[in-house]
Amino acid sequence: MATPEPALRTRIDALITDAWVLAALAAAIRDPSLSEEHGAVLGAAGYAEHTPDGWRLHPACRTFLDGLPAPDAFAGQVAGILRQAADAADGRPAEEDDDASFIVQGESSGERMTEFLDLVAARVPEVGKVLHRPGLRFLDIGTGIGAIAATVISRAPAARAVGIDIAPRALRLAEDHLIRRGVRDRVDLRLQDVAELADTAAYDLAWLPLGVLAPHATAQALPRILAALRPGGWLISATVLAGTDQPGSVREAVLRWRMARRAITPWTPAELAARLTATGFHSVTQIATPQNAMGLVAAQA
Ligand SMILES: C[S@@+](CC[C@H](N)C(=O)[O-])C[C@H]1O[C@@H](n2cnc3c(N)ncnc32)[C@H](O)[C@@H]1O
Repeated sequence: MATPEPALRTRIDALITDAWVLAALAAAIRDPSLSEEHGAVLGAAGYAEHTPDGWRLHPACRTFLDGLPAPDAFAGQVAGILRQAADAADGRPAEEDDDASFIVQGESSGERMTEFLDLVAARVPEVGKVLHRPGLRFLDIGTGIGAIAATVISRAPAARAVGIDIAPRALRLAEDHLIRRGVRDRVDLRLQDVAELADTAAYDLAWLPLGVLAPHATAQALPRILAALRPGGWLISATVLAGTDQPGSVREAVLRWRMARRAITPWTPAELAARLTATGFHSVTQIATPQNAMGLVAAQA
């Protein structure tokens, strides 16, 4: 049955209000000094409280923010998503991130990687051992600014990484980031499409983030990554979908539309696990992340 027009108007109003509440929250994460009007928005929505010194974020929000590895980067991500939504609303194709957002996003991935590695190591102790193996060889696929490579090799003595990326801009930014992290001499940066990876038995560990790769590239990459790992080496892969949403839910449908607009591999952890097994990986293990923010799958060559 078609939605009656006045009801739709009320719902659109509510959706617009929610979008502005989200914007107010992101702005407050960046700068907690809230104007009267800004604070009133967050107060009415239940995210701020009025004190004798003016508005401030509610303690429960502060606790949440203090638990984030990089609250500023989180606010930046929310702002980026609002910009992407505006592009979609205007019928514009998804835009590439500018350098500043690319760096913020890369830094936040690097910080989050520590948490992911701990999660995987707790669930698959063999991966934990690999992560501390002296001389570890790590393959960082879609290296971006190289933050994940830097995080991984910082955990093992004499570890080295190869970071591959199809974008010259990424490799230029990675140079700077790796110099700043003091590990430039331990990471080889290569302009390369993972779909054409030709290394054999070269790595103990590889990282494959589906959230940055096109579906055809990911599909072509799987057998190449298997060949590039040393026998017994491990792949850790991340999916955007955690596989926990109700199929057909609005949240999952929105995520799939966002992925399609950016040509991102939309596989669930279960789909990825099945493809890894079919490729010849074994000990394929799905690992949940807190709040099911995304999915992790570990697999052994
Ligand atoms: C945003 S960065 C990722 C940063 C970080 N590694 C992460 O996991 O979040 C994604 C990078 O993947 C690169 N990329 C996309 N498709 C690729 C492919 N087929 N092979 C190698 N790199 C690719 C992009 O150029 C981009 O620089």
